[in-house]
Amino acid sequence: MSQTIATLPAGCTAIRGQILQFLDDPGNGPEPAPGSYQHLPDGLLVMHQGKVIACGAAAELSALLPADTPVTRYPDSLILPGFIDTHVHMPQLGVIASYGAQLLDWLENYTFPHESKFADQTFAQAEAHRFTDLLLSHGTTSGLVFCTSHPGSVDALFNAAEARGMGLHGGKVMMDRFAPDALMDTAGSSYDDSRALIDRWHHKGRQRYAITPRFAATSTPDQLAVAGQLARETPDALIQTHWAENHAEIAWIAELFPDRASYLDVYHHYGLLGDRTVLAHGIHIDDEDRRTLADTGTRIAFCPTSNTFLGSGLFDFRSARGAGVTVGLASDVGGGTSLSMLASMAEAYKVCRLRDQPLTPFQAFYLSTLGNARVLHQGDEIGSFRQGAWADAVVLDLNGGPMLAMKHEQPGTLAETLFNLMILGDDRTVAATWVAGQCQYQRPATTVNKEPV
Ligand code: GUN
Ligand code: ZN
Repeated sequence: MSQTIATLPAGCTAIRGQILQFLDDPGNGPEPAPGSYQHLPDGLLVMHQGKVIACGAAAELSALLPADTPVTRYPDSLILPGFIDTHVHMPQLGVIASYGAQLLDWLENYTFPHESKFADQTFAQAEAHRFTDLLLSHGTTSGLVFCTSHPGSVDALFNAAEARGMGLHGGKVMMDRFAPDALMDTAGSSYDDSRALIDRWHHKGRQRYAITPRFAATSTPDQLAVAGQLARETPDALIQTHWAENHAEIAWIAELFPDRASYLDVYHHYGLLGDRTVLAHGIHIDDEDRRTLADTGTRIAFCPTSNTFLGSGLFDFRSARGAGVTVGLASDVGGGTSLSMLASMAEAYKVCRLRDQPLTPFQAFYLSTLGNARVLHQGDEIGSFRQGAWADAVVLDLNGGPMLAMKHEQPGTLAETLFNLMILGDDRTVAATWVAGQCQYQRPATTVNKEPV
């Protein structure tokens, strides 16, 4: 199936190879829902002025390309819409793989000291460039990103994203208690700084601001009220925070907010729930919480590599879906252990297995592309190759890594190919990443020295 198009204008570029995109949620049953995806064994993705102008069978579309159109061929590959990460921390690259702690100790001993370094703008800029480069080398082209409480960390992130043509949602962390002085703001300063950043960055090109109270423990009631006020003032900005990740965290919130019926009720009370809100984790929750999430449209970012690494618990994916909650998939680096959405899919599969629940490869790849785009209210803009979407794509090498290459020798179904990629793939699997119609990452050639030494 290709979009009906009579001619293609001059100035297009195209990539050619096996293409997969989701058109809708394939479900999580034994067979993907009919019509939920498009698979083109030999497809052509045609890009014009940063956007997708056509996607279809190469046999049909090639004839419509103006003669001088550059076409990059990717044999033995799978071209997908660029991955999207619905919860990741730019300033936590240096925290990844920190030994032996659960959430609260991990925050105090590793994360807060590291985030304090982002007061230095030169450091913040270098880390933001490192972060966006690493997102691209892992095939991730968009996401919802925590910065630090320093407003300059948001400028650093968005400047780095702009330089690569990427579109991110990001925000200044609001935190005015239970943290080192170097990280704390106040209710008033967090309003002023967030407001100024919204004015500077929200809808600047592809960038979007996200209102970012860290979690209820590190914000006073006054600051949560300020976050609610910012949300009312900027109704199309996303809100991101953490919720119900760890037992000690949950017990602490109950102490800090004795008048609230539950942890979720804290956020509800301050006007922070709704379909623009993405709550990271949501592990230790009940049916009433799920009903509130579904009724308000509030989303959960499932962060499996973080949840197993920090020993937080096993997210109940089936119950969330069953209750009608919108769930995205996320790396949560640096609590998470990889920026690779392939790694997040693999860990999500294992978390589901530990709960005796399915996670099909179709569902996992849907989540990492169109599903996550929908979590961010960008299903028309990213996450698929529909006409008019940003031309963001990841090219996965079916031989990318020795185990994958070995599996690729065996003939298999599309579901098997996807499952091999998500279980065995990593950043070595990413051959190239395209953003807004430009190749922004190309895997370096590896040379194997076969000569005797
Ligand atoms: N809860 C509050 N802050 C954080 C954070 O930075 N990472 C994770 N995983 N949970 C949090
Ligand atoms: Zn997080």
